[in-house]
Amino acid sequence: MTRLLIVDDEALFRDALSANFARDGLAVVAVGSVAAARAELERGAFDVVLLDQRLPDGDGLEVAPLALRVNDATKLLLLTAFPNYDHAVQALRNGIHDYLSKPVEVAEVRHAVETLLRTAALERVAEVHRLTASYDEAGALFIGRSERAGDIKRLIQRAQETSANVLITGETGTGKTLVAKAIHYGSARAKHPLISVNCAALPETLVEAELFGVEKGAYTGATQRRGLIELAEGGTLFLDEIAEMPPATQAKLLSVIEDRQVRRLGGERSRVIETRMIAATNVSPADAIAAGKFRRDLFYRLNVVSIALPPLRERRADIPLLCERFIRELAPGRTAQVAPADLEELMRYAFPGNVRELRNILERCLILEEGPQLHPARLLDAAAGARATKSAEEPGQASELAGAARPLEAVIREHVLRTYDQHGGNLTRTAQALGLSLSTLRRKLAEYGRLPPARRDQEAS
Ligand SMILES: Nc1ncnc2c1ncn2[C@@H]1O[C@H](COP(=O)(O)OP(=O)(O)OP(=O)(O)O)[C@@H](O)[C@H]1O
Ligand SMILES: [Mg+2]
Repeated sequence: MTRLLIVDDEALFRDALSANFARDGLAVVAVGSVAAARAELERGAFDVVLLDQRLPDGDGLEVAPLALRVNDATKLLLLTAFPNYDHAVQALRNGIHDYLSKPVEVAEVRHAVETLLRTAALERVAEVHRLTASYDEAGALFIGRSERAGDIKRLIQRAQETSANVLITGETGTGKTLVAKAIHYGSARAKHPLISVNCAALPETLVEAELFGVEKGAYTGATQRRGLIELAEGGTLFLDEIAEMPPATQAKLLSVIEDRQVRRLGGERSRVIETRMIAATNVSPADAIAAGKFRRDLFYRLNVVSIALPPLRERRADIPLLCERFIRELAPGRTAQVAPADLEELMRYAFPGNVRELRNILERCLILEEGPQLHPARLLDAAAGARATKSAEEPGQASELAGAARPLEAVIREHVLRTYDQHGGNLTRTAQALGLSLSTLRRKLAEYGRLPPARRDQEAS
């Protein structure tokens, strides 16, 4: 249940707001001082905190840092009778998300809270790429000069020129998300939103409401809102990990694509939509279809343009160029290059985490080493290297195995961090790969100072 904390010392206003939000189905706690607000926050997290600025024992802003520490996804709304520029800046610095000046109508507050909740819900399930970020992304083109890379660039270009749906396949870290961005920002849709949604992270109970939207009263407490398909109008909806979408939802998505219309949950009328779909999966579509996870009819609708990204080990010729680009991007102004012997080893390595792994290894190397010659080979995963060369007898492997004894804890640490990077920072998958429980993995990452900020339901579950 959505939790709202109201901090205001005007009893009448506080009660009116409380009654209103309680009717909307929110769990409301209302207090009249900074101290009381602190006490409530110590007891538990809130989704939205409404802060009056002038309180008997201090400034409502003082509550903001604590609220965000308890839950960094909390949305903060400040109400003030004394709006001024300095204060607004101060408020933003304290993490305030919205700002209303008193006197204010209850309806206005309700509208602001609804917007904040909607934003919070979107942040949980989808990433809305902003135009400001887009110019960088457009420049971040697919790098590679191998034949395979050339084929992919041609496909990207073709996809940019049309509005046909696209299905991108490839192992983790091969650049699926990058290609989706390149297509969107290189197309005529670039001025419209690119919204990406991770189907594996969407709780099954929410997925349809999020994708298709909701009409007021569709279920208890439902307020009207647009779904992601509508929000991406004119632009692109990127459906990541499409094979993880519940089959019933896949069927609905299929009819949206076929009819070019979407009907919100509980709604009567359909709206015409002009949203391009790009889907991605890191499992083989054929296998997912055979296993009954991915609907064949939806697959055909999405697979109009089909982009299969090869694993990095199948386009090794691109490794030197990728190294050059990543070094330039990660350490601008620094003249460094991979030592020739190390480059040779990189060219033999299996790269289970693909381009992402290469990038992460170089990033670590640039931090660890100061000289102009980088030695990333020592950061490679020995086990994966053995798989690549198919022979444990190779000299490189032997010396790795016979290398100077290191404290076990250091080896574990390196292995955990490398696996974590290979899985793109996905806690669930890393824990599975390592055979650790999520809580053990979290503890270890915290020890190593690498615990990510709390996010995404998928990883918390
Ligand atoms: N050809 C490429 N040129 C430049 N950078 C690339 C290329 N391929 C991948 N990258 C970089 O590698 C990293 C991983 O790529 P991306 O996130 O697109 O992979 P993905 O296939 O979407 O992975 P996942 O399956 O885990 O979602 C990103 O930093 C991306 O910019
Ligand atoms: Mg991705």
